[in-house]
Amino acid sequence: MTTENIYILGIESSCDDTAASIIHNGRLLSNVVASQEIHAEYGGIVPELASRAHQQNIVPVVHQALEKAGIGKEQLNAIAFTSGPGLLGSLLVGSSFAKSLAYGLDIPLIAVNHMQAHILAHFIDEKGFEKPPFPFLAMTISGGHTQIVRVDDYFKMEVIGETIDDAVGEAFDKSGKILGLSYPAGPEIDKLAALGDPKAFKFTKPKVDGLNFSFSGLKTAILYFIQKKINENPDFIKENINDICASIQYTIIGILMDKLKLAEKQTGIKHIAIGGGVSANSGIRSALKTGEQKFGWSTYIPKFEFTTDNAAMIAIVGYLKYLEKDFDEFDVSASARLKI
Ligand code: KG4
Ligand code: ZN
Repeated sequence: MTTENIYILGIESSCDDTAASIIHNGRLLSNVVASQEIHAEYGGIVPELASRAHQQNIVPVVHQALEKAGIGKEQLNAIAFTSGPGLLGSLLVGSSFAKSLAYGLDIPLIAVNHMQAHILAHFIDEKGFEKPPFPFLAMTISGGHTQIVRVDDYFKMEVIGETIDDAVGEAFDKSGKILGLSYPAGPEIDKLAALGDPKAFKFTKPKVDGLNFSFSGLKTAILYFIQKKINENPDFIKENINDICASIQYTIIGILMDKLKLAEKQTGIKHIAIGGGVSANSGIRSALKTGEQKFGWSTYIPKFEFTTDNAAMIAIVGYLKYLEKDFDEFDVSASARLKI
């Protein structure tokens, strides 16, 4: 087999999305995601329900990924799967499935770090999307993660800053819960913020040294602010929802931008890539554009379907590792706290 004709199946099951994707020589053939609606009722992810839903979804999702790619499973060269970090029960569903299929087909198994995958999603061949040159800074912002990573090569990366408590997506989601919005609240806050004044209400930014983040204090500040205002006027939320959302979003984006500017200052690196569900936020997108004009940055935002949890990012890492013949043994274990 030459390196010109490589088909990789990627499987992702670290949280609440069951996903499978086929990548052919670095180019996407299919990207299937089954999102689990069940958690919305609970206002957050319930791990037990997540693993049960993964078990129901994984066979049809992989089947669809192969079908949409127009290939049979016997054409696969390797199977890549998320080995962590994530919810252990969820990870185990994807890893046992990947192992059995790779064993049955007698092809290599490739364990993939979910956080590396969010970053390497930028290397999927996609028309109109430029790949960041090394070295670059990657900021992964989602409901589960908030990190700034210095990336010197595909597999040479170092976390230089991360959250010490909540992830930035949780800051959006928990603020939304206080406001009575449904889960996940990030997209709704983004929409409502568009019609509001970002400086209507001021929330203090947390003081955290260096490149680390903290979002739990902000959530508490918002809660106390809202409780106080509601005591004065029971309709406060309804009457001010746009301004409240705009102010929350403005504060959160300010926190992210402050740390990015500091990271650029400390490293001298002006190529900045983002990933994770929160990179869909219009506030962060326009702040990055401003960074291009004001600070001479080059910024990289992948196609939306590659920013939220997906299997294409797992498959591309599988492909890059395949080229290096970096395979795993079948006893490789899933790890909830896997580090970059
Ligand atoms: O990457 P993702 O789909 O899943 C993980 O958490 O890993 O990210 C989901 C998070 C949620 O917290 C959601 O509220 C947030 O991304 N999100 C947004 C927007 N779209 C999704 N937050 C702010 N603005 C958005 N437009
Ligand atoms: Zn993720």
